[in-house]
Amino acid sequence: MRRIVLGASLFFTALSLPALAQDHPEIGQRQGQFNLIVHNFAVLGGMAQGRVDYDATLAQTAADNLFHITRHDQSRLWPEGTDAQSVDSTRALPAIWENLDDFVSKFADLQMAAENVQTVAGDGLDALRPAVGALGGACQACHQTYRAEAG
Ligand code: HEC
Repeated sequence: MRRIVLGASLFFTALSLPALAQDHPEIGQRQGQFNLIVHNFAVLGGMAQGRVDYDATLAQTAADNLFHITRHDQSRLWPEGTDAQSVDSTRALPAIWENLDDFVSKFADLQMAAENVQTVAGDGLDALRPAVGALGGACQACHQTYRAEAG
């Protein structure tokens, strides 16, 4: 019996080691997602603010990208224990896991705002500007509550 128990505990130790060494790859993966989001959002924000000349093709491409990136399924990117209190390399606040429904609904707001931008991106600057403003609002609404300040 002792041998069986010892054998089992060695087995579970071996199983848990890779999980430790892996160091939560989801954190880098979801940060990569947000970096791709800002890569595209910057083009649209630049046009909306007059820092970049409006270009219908460029705007449409960035908006199409945003539509698709924000459709990426989030269910495996936010595992419990990957908050900023538990891990150094993330700015995701514990509040996310305390208010998961609200967090998910704020992500849904982002998807809706991105879809709206995609619809009007090719229709000229006057159509683009308010849609991009609403998109920026969706970023801020979530960061305000669920992302720690930088540094
Ligand atoms: C539903 C919530 C939510 C929405 C909406 C959201 N973000 Fe974030 N964002 C986060 C969280 C949480 C983090 C921190 C992730 C981490 O460090 O693990 C983050 C991190 C980031 C980062 C930093 C990535 C890194 O390398 O650390 C950027 C850039 C970013 N978001 C841009 C945006 C932009 C632009 C938008 C809107 C177009 C947006 N986000 C919308 C929650 C959100």
